[in-house]
Amino acid sequence: MEIKKQTNLRGTLTVPGDKSISHRAVMFGSLAKGTTCISHFLEGADCLSTISCFRKMGISIERRKSEILVHGKGLHGLSAPEALLDVGNSGTTTRLISGILAGQKFISELDGDDSIRTRPMKRIVTPLASMGADITSKRGNGCVPLLIHGKELHAVHYDSPVASAQVKSCVLLAGMYADGVTSVTEPFLSRNHTEIMLNYFGANVTSEGTTASILPEPVLEGRAVKVPGDISSAAYFIAAGLLTPGSEILLKNVGINPTRAGMLKVCMDMGADITLLNQSTEGEPTADLLIRTSNLKGTTVEGAVIPTLIDEIPMIAVMAAFADGTTVIRDAQELKVKESDRITVMVENLKRMGADIEGTDDGMIIHGGKPLHGATIDSHLDHRVAMSFAVAGTICDGSMEILHGDCVKISYPNFYQDLYSLGDK
Ligand code: S3P
Repeated sequence: MEIKKQTNLRGTLTVPGDKSISHRAVMFGSLAKGTTCISHFLEGADCLSTISCFRKMGISIERRKSEILVHGKGLHGLSAPEALLDVGNSGTTTRLISGILAGQKFISELDGDDSIRTRPMKRIVTPLASMGADITSKRGNGCVPLLIHGKELHAVHYDSPVASAQVKSCVLLAGMYADGVTSVTEPFLSRNHTEIMLNYFGANVTSEGTTASILPEPVLEGRAVKVPGDISSAAYFIAAGLLTPGSEILLKNVGINPTRAGMLKVCMDMGADITLLNQSTEGEPTADLLIRTSNLKGTTVEGAVIPTLIDEIPMIAVMAAFADGTTVIRDAQELKVKESDRITVMVENLKRMGADIEGTDDGMIIHGGKPLHGATIDSHLDHRVAMSFAVAGTICDGSMEILHGDCVKISYPNFYQDLYSLGDK
């Protein structure tokens, strides 16, 4: 994929629906009684993997006009899948579904692509096993393929060593099938979409600090879910608007849940001109974001803010390379186990562009403001790496080529069209 330089980004854009919320709407809708109607659903490859898994377990899911209808069968309404469940590239599908499958009365098997086959699943197998689940990593390496023999589950309290919404959600979902109150404490608060949406569907989830607890056997009812724009997709246009000379863009209806909106805080710390308009707090909080070209300076990104921007770090690293001064990113060792090792891959590719960057055990140090030029970028099939460097390519001089640039379909199928929709024609 070759990237063209752009100036003067102007106009309005609605980014695709939130990936995390789209996954959950399909999953909880499948476990609810009655129909769940999802609008602004993200039709990216990851969320389609979730739909395909639930269809294989007997759930009818249809597209009607621009909405997705999930005809749920209740908490105990899934049927044994005849074939293996293909999770594709999706960590969220794998980890959340495992929590549901652990408490079913049938056997199931999960498998996916080469990337998901390297991602750590012990982090969910360990707490699920403590609840009585029977899960085997078929290759003995702690990754998929996973063979899950459904069992009766016991309630536990789990102290998670990682701040991960996928781990937390997996345990809470298993907790719906357990024999008492199940709770999870994490070191920092991760995204809380599961807690919000399960309560909206009729479950009883309480949160105190970084602990979330769930009562078993909820009766979930089908609901209408309006998926907000994905702040992780908006991130590319926030960065493009801030860094491209002569820009003023409006991003409509973006989710700004505080457990997701760390990117906005970091941008403000870097000196960004961002205004929040039309804020709404009904359900998941949303706002329109007005972005204007800004002179950015380096900052430090660490601690509790990390889980709230974990997927935006590739874009933040690119912004830091264009900004003046030094940016330090630490406490972000989770980057190593995403769709690629995002520390290694960002350092390798930003160096190719001429950036002064070094990787550390838990992040990166970027000395910004060096002249950057186009390069051949290896996305390592990681959608967020591809999109971050595509934005970089619209700003710097010299030709920019993204290898396997079509991997953006995982979370943002129309990314390149949207990227070129705002600049001078
Ligand atoms: C997600 C949680 C995060 C995030 C992923 C989506 C979710 O992963 O990186 O893209 O929907 O719960 P972790 O929970 O592993 O940090």
